[in-house]
Amino acid sequence: MSSLTANFGSSYSDYRPWEYDILVKILIVGNSGVGKSCLLVRYSDDEFYESHLSTIGVDFKIKTQTLQDHRVAKIQLWDTAGQERFGQIVSGYYRSSNGIMIVFDLTDEKSFREVAKWLDQIAKYGSENTPMVLVGNKSDLVAKRVIDRRVAEEFAKNMGMEYIETSAKNSNGVDVAFDKMLQAVVKSQNYIDNNPNTKKKTDSSTTVIGPGLRGNTTVTDSSNNSCCWK
Ligand code: GTP
Repeated sequence: MSSLTANFGSSYSDYRPWEYDILVKILIVGNSGVGKSCLLVRYSDDEFYESHLSTIGVDFKIKTQTLQDHRVAKIQLWDTAGQERFGQIVSGYYRSSNGIMIVFDLTDEKSFREVAKWLDQIAKYGSENTPMVLVGNKSDLVAKRVIDRRVAEEFAKNMGMEYIETSAKNSNGVDVAFDKMLQAVVKSQNYIDNNPNTKKKTDSSTTVIGPGLRGNTTVTDSSNNSCCWK
């Protein structure tokens, strides 16, 4: 084995001096209390919190994932406040997102009914053809469930979305939901390409997003010139 192969893994094509190939921004929306933050924390840190600490404005986490084609995706997961008083702040995030996950609570009929409200917001403030998935969360609460799977599936199908049921509490379906979201984004090629061999010239534009209300830390990602607040 040559020293190059030893250093860079089993294949020369695995060697990437750049940190990631594509940047994907995913926005998570839905009524307050449906479990958006818990889903995100389960996916990114494999943890669960019993308490409900309402998100203020917008918060985000970053996760890196290798795709089936070996490209490395850097995923920005934007967790939004479900409370209506933050609607204006949240609306500023729709346009720059590459994919939107709409979450409702399987034990809360109103949260399912109001998925239509979130779709209206996306239509009003988002970019056309942004891939979306619908997530019914809290599937572990079987006895309290009020939304039938077939009803939610039918609704999602009519809206051109995939439907996935999850439990942030016991992890069921969580990875599947985020994988489906990522697949939909990759399929639509709606992401920022950071691979210097395939990068489009337009990628160098500066995107300024924010500010949310959770403090004023500025996070700068020098590799794609984007800047945001959390
Ligand atoms: P906002 O930030 O106000 O928009 O709420 P959110 O949608 O982020 O809800 P959050 O993640 O804070 O969860 C609300 C409550 O639901 C918390 O008490 C969680 O412990 C609980 N919860 C979240 N996911 C699940 C789940 O899958 N199963 C059960 N049983 N409880 C859950």
